[in-house]
Amino acid sequence: MNEFKIKDLSLAKEGREKILWSEKNMPVLQKIKERFSKEKPFKGLKIGACLHITSETAALINCLLSGGAEIFLAASNPLSTQDDVAAALVKNGIHVYGWRGESNEDYYWCIEKVLEQKPNIIHDDGADMISFIHQNFKKNEINIIAGFEETTTGVNRLKALESENKLFFPIFAINNANTKRLFDNRYGTGQGAIFGILNGLHILLAGKTIVIAGYGWCSKGIALRASGNGAKVIITEVDPIKALEAYMDGFQVLPMEEAIKLADIVITATGCIDVVRKEHLMNAKNGVILCNSGHFDVEINKEDLNELSISKREVFPYVTEYTLNDGRKIYLLADGRLVNLVLGRGHPPEIMDLSFSLHALCAEYIIKNKDNLNLKAKVYDVPLEVDIKIAETKLSSLGIKIDTLTDKQKIYLESWKYGT
Ligand code: NAI
Repeated sequence: MNEFKIKDLSLAKEGREKILWSEKNMPVLQKIKERFSKEKPFKGLKIGACLHITSETAALINCLLSGGAEIFLAASNPLSTQDDVAAALVKNGIHVYGWRGESNEDYYWCIEKVLEQKPNIIHDDGADMISFIHQNFKKNEINIIAGFEETTTGVNRLKALESENKLFFPIFAINNANTKRLFDNRYGTGQGAIFGILNGLHILLAGKTIVIAGYGWCSKGIALRASGNGAKVIITEVDPIKALEAYMDGFQVLPMEEAIKLADIVITATGCIDVVRKEHLMNAKNGVILCNSGHFDVEINKEDLNELSISKREVFPYVTEYTLNDGRKIYLLADGRLVNLVLGRGHPPEIMDLSFSLHALCAEYIIKNKDNLNLKAKVYDVPLEVDIKIAETKLSSLGIKIDTLTDKQKIYLESWKYGT
């Protein structure tokens, strides 16, 4: 019997329907799952995962399960778990530790429960599990072949660990693959962040001024969808190249100090800290809506918001109204956590088909080739052949054909003596 701690096992039926729907929309992952169920690449291995417990994650977990692994899953955010999905996964034999509304203590307890099982492979989102390992275990106490990191913030943390020569095992930066960040970060976060706001507040975007912090992959997607809904978009940046790109994409670029005065809605997606802080809050318009789509709840400084406020109340689920001492109201969504996951359901399955196929194929590649690869405790990019394979399979599932280079074209593209 699998061990677990979740909210309510009786929600499994609803969770199963959601998972089936996601699986139906994840054709690449389903193809991999079919093959895994015959070849069993993970037979005898334990997988520890720290991922948002959503129906798309469940599709990945079911795929790895059919590959023969025993799986231990913790949530990668205290507010992102879909409790019905967690219940359905338990019924499938997964050891699940996660529920919506975990305290900070619960959150790390769940991670610890997974690690007690001494997993051989880690799938992480944000690097909380991998960083917990490095803070609480010695290198000789673990038996990990490789780790796979899903997001920008997690990859940045693990690169910092690598640069201090403290990394215990090889990591594959799933986030940095083309079939991940070009689609998941841009189109997944773009649609999801907007959906989270609309779901939480039921407002019109047309005509509103939306300030988006950052112009990286996620922010670009959010800006695209916000302007598509008729909003006036203002970008804030710290990188001159990204700022110029935003300008040439047709957006106004301002420092946050000025942008906040115009904002009806502010959305942060930078991976940085204190992007909206006291001096900005003091200049915000009455009624401004603040939310974050970056990995951690540090982009909007909640201590500053509390300090400036005389009271707060929850007006709708995960929508908090702060009343400032000068009478202005500020609305914070999702307690400053990922708005697309707390007020929405995360990325849609068509997107996670790409990201989670990368996790599945990369894990298989490493397990199959580990003796020849001579992997070091480093942060590696996903092998290009895996990235290309996923794009090809996705195109084929969509019925899209592309051209192939002729021999003459190949020679032309590889030569330097044009016209002679
Ligand atoms: P990125 O590195 O492509 O872009 C971040 C941008 O923010 C950069 O252009 C950077 O110059 C800018 N920036 C940094 N500090 C800033 C500041 N103080 N003010 C204004 N701009 C600033 O990163 P990406 O991939 O867009 O990810 C951003 C965050 O979103 C990360 O925390 C990542 O983990 C998270 N993420 C969230 C997802 C979700 O489901 N909501 C999905 C994927 C990533």
